Amino acid sequence: MIKKITTLPGDGIGPEIVESGKAVLQVIADLYGHQFEFQEGLIGGAAIDATGVPLPDETIERCQSSDACLLGAVGGPKWDQQPPHLRPEKGLLAIRQALNLYANLRPVQALDALIEESTLKPEVVSGVDVLIVRELTGGIYFGEPRERRTIDGEEGVVDTLVYKKSEIERLLHRAFQFAEIRGKHVTSVDKANVLESSRMWRECANEVATHYPSVTLEHMLVDNAAMQLIRQPKQFDVLVTENLFGDILSDEASMITGSLGMLPSASLNGTAFGLYEPVHGSAPDIAGLNQANPLATIASTAMLLRYSFGLLEEADCIEQAINQVLLKGYRTADLTNANAISTEEMTKAVIKEIKVAI
Ligand code: NAI
Ligand code: MG
Repeated sequence: MIKKITTLPGDGIGPEIVESGKAVLQVIADLYGHQFEFQEGLIGGAAIDATGVPLPDETIERCQSSDACLLGAVGGPKWDQQPPHLRPEKGLLAIRQALNLYANLRPVQALDALIEESTLKPEVVSGVDVLIVRELTGGIYFGEPRERRTIDGEEGVVDTLVYKKSEIERLLHRAFQFAEIRGKHVTSVDKANVLESSRMWRECANEVATHYPSVTLEHMLVDNAAMQLIRQPKQFDVLVTENLFGDILSDEASMITGSLGMLPSASLNGTAFGLYEPVHGSAPDIAGLNQANPLATIASTAMLLRYSFGLLEEADCIEQAINQVLLKGYRTADLTNANAISTEEMTKAVIKEIKVAI
């Protein structure tokens, strides 16, 4: 199989962890007889330093001409003085929009080796396997108008939550399709007791559900969902929700697994193309120190192989290797206070496990 992958290292720890992800992909290509062609694009602070803007057109073109993208992270104090439209994080929102990446997948799995790292009780966390499907290109983050205005003679502000029915439906279809190949249960999270947008969301979910008879649908109000995620996370299989609710609930759910340095994500647009990135940020405090945990990025490469290339065995192989190195006690500094290994050492340990497994 010949596939083109664009890497977008970004800034902070981005270049270090993307290097790890690339190394793992290269080993998979060699061992399984695939050909992955890598090209690199500028985004975030690195792009601002080189070109003055956080997302040059050339980067978008490179992503569009590739089969998948692997992104590191962007942002840091160096660019804090930039005007809002020229900040590194703008590059991230802009690439999601430019590539129409409306479905954000955040799997939350409790790995046996890290059960003790969670702030929740082991019996609550053990066996958790939730896929959060978050709408990524609509809702209150993008709706117009968004402005300061005078209301009843005093200073006020307006944000707007907008969804087209088609935007809701396409996301729900993705969620049900994932549920079909997982635990066959969808929890649709909304605030239908208050918000009109949520009432439409609920109607759409009921309609879409009729196309997937093997999947059960449950509606849950977002405040209850926030509570249930901590109380009994094992009740969830696929949790689907709109942009803002998904942003908050996925950060909450991430703590089930113990560390931000472990969590991968995929952003999809309905074709095989996808953009894959760790959930964490650019960690400017440890940038360049060879200390960052590369496992979230390496787990993101497994998602890339699974969702964009259909290479399920290869994806499983990477995930098992991650589990193995953790079971053997390898830990980067975010996961331990003693005997931490470096980014490069962790990457090598994963690659060694992959080679042993094949
Ligand atoms: P952060 O995720 O970068 O860091 C939070 C804490 O976790 C820090 O102590 C950091 O050292 C640690 N950490 C994060 N990833 C780690 C890893 N792989 N290994 C070990 N430790 C890790 O979030 P923070 O500090 O709020 O933001 C820093 C910058 O990153 C900001 O400019 C922010 O806007 C940006 N950011 C970018 C994101 C992205 O590129 N997708 C997402 C979130 C934040
Ligand atoms: Mg967030």
